[in-house]
Amino acid sequence: MACSQYEYVKKFETYQTLLPNTYIVVRIDGKGFTKFTANHNFEKPNDKRGLDLMNKAAESVMETFNEIMLAYGQSDEFSFVFKKDAELYQRRTEKIVSCVVSCFTAAYAIHFSDYFNVKPSFLPMFDARAACYPDFKNLRDYLNWRQVDCHINNLYNTCFWTMVQKGNMTPQKAQEILKDTLSDRKNEILFNDYGINYAKLEPQFRKGSTLIRVLVLKDKHANKEGENSEQAEPLKKTQKSVEDQESNTESVKLQQNQEEEEQKDNSSDPSKEESNTVITKGEKKFIAGQKKQKKFNTKQLEKIEKSKYRSKIITLSDDIIQNEFWDKYKDSLKLQD
Ligand code: GTP
Ligand code: MG
Repeated sequence: MACSQYEYVKKFETYQTLLPNTYIVVRIDGKGFTKFTANHNFEKPNDKRGLDLMNKAAESVMETFNEIMLAYGQSDEFSFVFKKDAELYQRRTEKIVSCVVSCFTAAYAIHFSDYFNVKPSFLPMFDARAACYPDFKNLRDYLNWRQVDCHINNLYNTCFWTMVQKGNMTPQKAQEILKDTLSDRKNEILFNDYGINYAKLEPQFRKGSTLIRVLVLKDKHANKEGENSEQAEPLKKTQKSVEDQESNTESVKLQQNQEEEEQKDNSSDPSKEESNTVITKGEKKFIAGQKKQKKFNTKQLEKIEKSKYRSKIITLSDDIIQNEFWDKYKDSLKLQD
């Protein structure tokens, strides 16, 4: 930037940074989506096209910012979780929040017609905020809060709209009946009066959507769209994947070479060459260390193995409150505490 007499005004700019070594969560939320969804005739209470569009926009954000480890979305909101040691924009709050929300909004607007076959008739807008969570428990509690919110709202809305649409009740009447009811009562109304088993409804509606990155085997023959979903299963990183892929020719070759080398080396191994040579404890340890090093010189092996995988963003409708999800994907999530 060229210097000018006016440049001093830059010093008036201030910025905040997000605390180091904490999970940064940026949550975006649709602005005036009650009106936006009504205006674009979204189905009530859930429009799969709208939710899939939200997921698509979230995927674009994750593709753009690779330090995001997980995203969770429901209704008109999405939370993006950055890994603890994220360094994006030196953790400057305004930069991170504004870039995430503008990326999401742009993707939402661009892809809108792919899902609704028309252009949006007015501008979709999202607000955004950032918070820092110091440990994994706080992060889990944050995500639990959002998923419980999804459950409470969705059960209420499903009941409400079923009573209005199928039960021909006025919105006022439905509201009156549902006032102060607990979940059990709502489940009973749905099941007894309308034959709907809430637990059987689309998991995407009941649990929201969770996007994470997993390693998948690169498949030369599969096109990007039609990938085998089984390959998107989480893979235990490096050592495990090395074990799993031993049949791979490249690694087998490398291992064979290493074994041959080891055999050659053994012929010059002082402990074998001269059986009556006395080897001290320290020397034995040194030789063992050398061998171990050779065997564990798997850096090359790991590099080859790693190149066989690529990172892929997958969308799940799992229960993220229970431990099962976190146990299943702990390697993919590379949790830091
Ligand atoms: P602000 O966020 O304060 O600007 O208000 P808002 O109008 O966006 O409402 P809020 O964020 O509290 O709630 C989201 C609203 O989006 C819901 O109340 C619904 O009206 C609407 N919405 C979200 N998803 C869907 C959907 O799949 N179908 C329909 N019909 N509406 C939806
Ligand atoms: Mg909103």
